[in-house]
Parts: sequence; structure tokens; C-alpha cells
Amino acid sequence: MSQKVALITGAAQGIGKAIAERLSKDGFAIAVADFNLEGAQKTADELNKTGKAIAVKVDVSDRDQVFAAVQKTVDELGDFNVIVNNAGLGPTTPIDTITPEQFTKVYAVNVGSVLWGIQAAHKAFKDLGHGGKIINASSQAGQVGNPNLALYSGTKFAIRGITQTAARDLAKEGINVNAYCPGIVKTPMMMDIAHQVGQENGKSDEWGMETFSKDIALGRLSEPEDVANCVAYLAGPDSDYMTGQALIIDGGMVF
Ligand code: NAI
Repeated sequence: MSQKVALITGAAQGIGKAIAERLSKDGFAIAVADFNLEGAQKTADELNKTGKAIAVKVDVSDRDQVFAAVQKTVDELGDFNVIVNNAGLGPTTPIDTITPEQFTKVYAVNVGSVLWGIQAAHKAFKDLGHGGKIINASSQAGQVGNPNLALYSGTKFAIRGITQTAARDLAKEGINVNAYCPGIVKTPMMMDIAHQVGQENGKSDEWGMETFSKDIALGRLSEPEDVANCVAYLAGPDSDYMTGQALIIDGGMVF
């Protein structure tokens, strides 16, 4: 049987990198896609020590670039089975300060990336004559409202809507479409937010991080690997009978 191929966006760091590492361990050849090519190459170099990986430069908000990244993956890795539309921006913005420029940018990256990723993966699956799995990054903030997250939250709710719709549209072609909803994960994105919260309160970044863990039933912040475990399930055969779902992996915040 030929090796399955997964493309993960935003895989230069954070959750995307952990997903790339986990799917590589599970036997996938990996396209590490990011607009930070240097970081993507570093991830790919690490994966190539034990598996097979390429780095692909892409701005996920640009439809043509997303199609080109998927095509490059097919050309260089020989197949295409899974896309993880993971890249996203996570700004905290008091509702009255959101600008049209921020709105356009955050929706183009967070929501555009998912739409273009679905379209590009669908085309590749059709060209290759088989189905596949599409996995989208929503969030705990795509399930409930949180302070200062109107802009971000809107994009993450939208991703659940797109996931449910695409699941219905593509099911007959053997394509499963699901989402994952992390809680508070120790990544560079969350470190930036902790820094901002710390500064606003005259406290440290660590204090900012700790304030986030008080509402988590399991009593600890998430490691990127916790999320990667959930995505591995959605990418593998054990989730073949699941589509249109948004799996919450937040240590017990939303239930
Ligand atoms: P991060 O900021 O640490 O990493 C994001 C990666 O995406 C970076 O490598 C960055 O270069 C890349 N990226 C950003 N914009 C891009 C673009 N336009 N084109 C290509 N690549 C781009 O983020 P993190 O924390 O790993 O988050 C990953 C996903 O998980 C995001 O969609 C985020 O919204 C979601 N998420 C994260 C949570 C957290 O606590 N960190 C919680 C819930 C959801």
C-alpha cells in the first residue's frame, strides 16, 4: 500500500507542528505548509530524520497559493489524503476597537484558508480518484463567547458552519469533513495573548497564562500534543464513520 499524504497549514510552530510530528509518526508523508518557509523547512528537516516531509511556502488567505501548495504536495509526495486547515490568527480585540482592516485580514486568514483548503483538497481528491479527510481548526471560542474575542470567535463559529456544510456537500465522494476545537494551548499564539493580559494587569506573562487555567476542569493548560492526538484520530481510519463534527479538546471548559 502506498504511503498516505497529509498537508498541514501553519505547521512551522505550535499546534500545526505537533500535528505534523504526530501524523508523521502515524506513517503519513507530510507537507509542512506555512508562510514562514524557514520554520516550515526546520520542521520538515526534523521529520525527514524518521519519515518523509517537504516544506511548502503558502499564504493560506490566497486561494491561488493554496491550490498551488496542494498541487506541489501531489507532485512531490505522489498522493493526497488529508488536509489540516490549521493556520490562523488569534487577536484579542475589545469589540469597539475592531477596525475594517483587522476584520478583512482575520476573516481572510481564518475563514478564507478553510474555504480555499476545502476547494483545493476536493480538486486533488477528484483528480486522484479517491476520497480523503478534511480537518479544520475551530476553537473553544467557536463554541461559546469569550471576552474581547468577537473578531476571532466569529471566524471560529464560521469554520464550524463551513465544516458542517462541506460535510454534507462532499460525503457522497468519500470525503469526511470535521473540525477540532482546542481550549488554551501553550503555543506562541497563546504566549502573545498571555503577555498582553499580563501587561494590562501589570503582571508577568506566566501570571497571564495561569489566569487562563482557572476555568479548565482538568486543571492544566493544553500541550500542542493533546490537540495533535485529537487530529490524529480525525485523520485516521477510526473516524471513518464521523463527519460534520467539531471535536472539543479543551480539558473541560465547554460542556
Ligand atoms: P501559532 O500562532 O503559534 O502558529 C500559527 C502558524 O500559522 C505559524 O507558524 C504562522 O506562521 C502560520 N500562519 C499564520 N498566518 C498564516 C498565513 N496567512 N498563511 C500561512 N501560514 C500562516 O498558532 P497556534 O496556537 O498553533 O494555533 C493554530 C490554530 O489553532 C489556529 O487556527 C488557532 O486559531 C487555533 N487555536 C489555537 C488555540 C491556542 O490556545 N493556541 C486555541 C484554539 C484554537
